[in-house]
Amino acid sequence: MAKEKRKGICNFCGEFSSLDKLFFEGIDAAICENCVTHAHEIITEFNQQKAAESSLDFQDFVLIKPQELKEKLDEYVIGQDEAKKVIAVAVYNHYKRISSKKKAKDEVDIEKSNIILVGETGTGKTLIAQTIAKLLDLPFCIADATVFTEAGYVGEDVESILTRLLQAADYNVKKAEMGIVFIDEIDKIARKSMANPSITRDVSGEGVQQSLLKLLEGTVVNVPPQGGRKHPEQKFVTVDTKNILFIASGAFNDMDKIIAERMNTNVIGYNTKRNVIDNKNIMQYISAQDLKTFGLIPELCGRFPVVTYLNALDRDALKRILVEPKNALIKQYIHLLHLDGIALTFSNDALDYIVDKAIELKLGARGLRSIIEKIMTDLMYEAPTSGKKKINISKKYAQEKFESSIFEFLK
Ligand SMILES: Nc1ncnc2c1ncn2[C@@H]1O[C@H](COP(=O)(O)OP(=O)(O)OP(=O)(O)O)[C@@H](O)[C@H]1O
Ligand SMILES: [Mg+2]
Repeated sequence: MAKEKRKGICNFCGEFSSLDKLFFEGIDAAICENCVTHAHEIITEFNQQKAAESSLDFQDFVLIKPQELKEKLDEYVIGQDEAKKVIAVAVYNHYKRISSKKKAKDEVDIEKSNIILVGETGTGKTLIAQTIAKLLDLPFCIADATVFTEAGYVGEDVESILTRLLQAADYNVKKAEMGIVFIDEIDKIARKSMANPSITRDVSGEGVQQSLLKLLEGTVVNVPPQGGRKHPEQKFVTVDTKNILFIASGAFNDMDKIIAERMNTNVIGYNTKRNVIDNKNIMQYISAQDLKTFGLIPELCGRFPVVTYLNALDRDALKRILVEPKNALIKQYIHLLHLDGIALTFSNDALDYIVDKAIELKLGARGLRSIIEKIMTDLMYEAPTSGKKKINISKKYAQEKFESSIFEFLK
């Protein structure tokens, strides 16, 4: 096929070729750029439709048993054993529930096990959900609760979550219907209450909570596959949310105080062994009751039967996060420089220094990345041309680079 700009007529639309557009000529016919683009759009839409209608039923979906799932999670997520255990069980039950429904209709109905994760920033909430989706090879999307509005208001509709899930599933509806949706910052749509007077969002927060209810429980939604407003001409796809697993997360500031207060009032008058409270780790007692006190409406709490917490990461955990996970930050830098033929090492006190700074930042493991980037930027710039074969990052070097970057920031 000749591909050149020529004067001729397109056999499809009858337009003359022009100098600024491509024109394709075959043996007996020619086609202009516009028609090729149009044909491409039709093919893409057809393929999406085909994928959506495909009868792929996830029969080959392999259930991973909770213990095995937790062990695999351990490779990526440090600490947070309680949360990993609870989630592994919930996820296993969720997918068992789906597969058993296919087998027999008269079995006991297993309740859907949507999960709420409570924990400070940078403790691994998103990481756990992301890793589960990856391990199970399921479509996964993250939605931020704060961008949602009640239907009819400017902002994103709650249903737009499903557009993203559909995209993550390559437009295969059956696959999307078994995916995982992660709703971040669920605490920010709490209604104002005595317990959290700082939250300014009041009525609208409750409205958004209301609009999430149906989605969480299971409903059939008409979803615009390309997203809402930009493509008004697209065909809608029907998505059933009954088998979608929802994992919500939030920092829920001062949750420990809410729990402590409830525990104190609850234990009065009892003196059994069970009521000895471990004050150091009050979060372990979190329950749906506390979420209600915080400002989630009871109906929403009811649709998240599994509530678990993530601990704040201590010095030891932060250090392990630097070096242990499969894609640990330190491993990434070592690998990057290895590709340039350079052996990179970090001395132990340099790692301790990074951890100390991360603790000062109070951003959990999230802080590690920004600190190490400040320390490594100059080196990553210079090392490949330096001719060096070995580089060690000492505490002195780390400190110098980090402090000078802070200084630059202040300038
Ligand atoms: N327990 C952990 N094990 C390993 N890495 C972790 C852990 N917690 C956090 N990280 C690292 O820190 C980064 C931020 O973590 P993540 O996004 O999971 O935080 P989060 O709890 O969702 O915080 P936020 O509330 O701010 O969304 C991740 O990319 C990950 O590399
Ligand atoms: Mg997160």
